[in-house]
Amino acid sequence: MIAELRVPVVVAPMAGGVTTPDLVAEVVRAGGFGFVPGGYLSVEALAGLVGRTEELTAGRFGVNLFVPGPESAPDLDVYRARIAAEAVRYGVEPGEAHWDDDDYPAKLELVLAKRVPVVSFTFGLPEVSTVRRLHATGTQVVVTVTTPAEASKAAAVGADALCVQGFEAGGHRGTLVDDGIFPGGGEEFGLLALLCRIRATTGLPLIATGGLVDGADIAAVLAAGAVAAQLGTAFLRCPEAGTSATHRAALTDRTRRTAITRAFTGRPARGLVNRFLTEHSAVAPAAYPHLHHLTKPVRAAAAAAGDPEAVHLWAGQTYPLVVDLPAAELVARLGHGARAAIQRANSRFADG
Ligand SMILES: Cc1cc2nc3c(=O)[nH]c(=O)nc-3n(C[C@H](O)[C@H](O)[C@H](O)COP(=O)(O)O)c2cc1C
Repeated sequence: MIAELRVPVVVAPMAGGVTTPDLVAEVVRAGGFGFVPGGYLSVEALAGLVGRTEELTAGRFGVNLFVPGPESAPDLDVYRARIAAEAVRYGVEPGEAHWDDDDYPAKLELVLAKRVPVVSFTFGLPEVSTVRRLHATGTQVVVTVTTPAEASKAAAVGADALCVQGFEAGGHRGTLVDDGIFPGGGEEFGLLALLCRIRATTGLPLIATGGLVDGADIAAVLAAGAVAAQLGTAFLRCPEAGTSATHRAALTDRTRRTAITRAFTGRPARGLVNRFLTEHSAVAPAAYPHLHHLTKPVRAAAAAAGDPEAVHLWAGQTYPLVVDLPAAELVARLGHGARAAIQRANSRFADG
């Protein structure tokens, strides 16, 4: 389905209200594909988003789900004290650090009942039995992977396509298991190297994601064997996106570095470097979703106050190149740009 798009561009699911039904519908209207983000929501809220997207487009779109990790209760006393000080600074109470399953079982039943055409999974593998049930209702299964080993595991559970995420990507790393090593001992792959490695071991369709921002980049990943490109950061400044005003303003300051941090949620994610990231990254434990809940009131208060220094400003490494355009225009521009880049590349051959 994703292999047969009019324009091989997919708008990334961006949880937290960023990828809105409007954004998905506009991308679909322009010939691309989109995933409604299911993370952090109750099943009722996700049903609302799917229903709203159906009202806005008769075209096909997918849903993205976070696969919960095992239940855990890590010792967070040290980190809790740091966040308590942040909470005082922003005049709020820290959140309650706890594990939850993100309503995953109920959301699975929802996408099965709705016969959603494509379901993508992030942060873990769906069970083989889940993949079989989805296949039985005609749903295609996509799994996000960040290493060749993860790609093999996703293929083994019966995934129909892989979302191949390079370390350039904005937002959370889609690593299947957060073993606490990153950043450090784990081997991290840039997108092109990862595509090459995975293409060598599987014939599954590959959706490339991470740092893609214009047509030439999309041409590059198509040439490297991907069937489509999934872009997140490139859509953050679209009027249809739910990006907060504070996040939008920070994205226009093209001088910030990006870095990968566990400080906000307990899982590695790439965002613009700010005070919170600088002060807490070195000590933040691998404790997702505990830290997500713990820091949420601080992040919300900072965003509401227009203070970018304690907000998770997710962004990929190419964020300074993002343009302000309505989503459908952006998809058209990306499509034309990719074609032009392919022609330019062709003309470099003597017989081209
Ligand atoms: C603000 C933001 C939120 C994201 N939320 C999700 C999500 O809910 N589920 C998911 O699978 N990926 C999520 N991602 C990662 C994207 O799927 C994708 O891998 C990434 O955006 C690609 O890199 P780019 O941002 O440089 O285009 C998010 C990315 C961003 C920037």
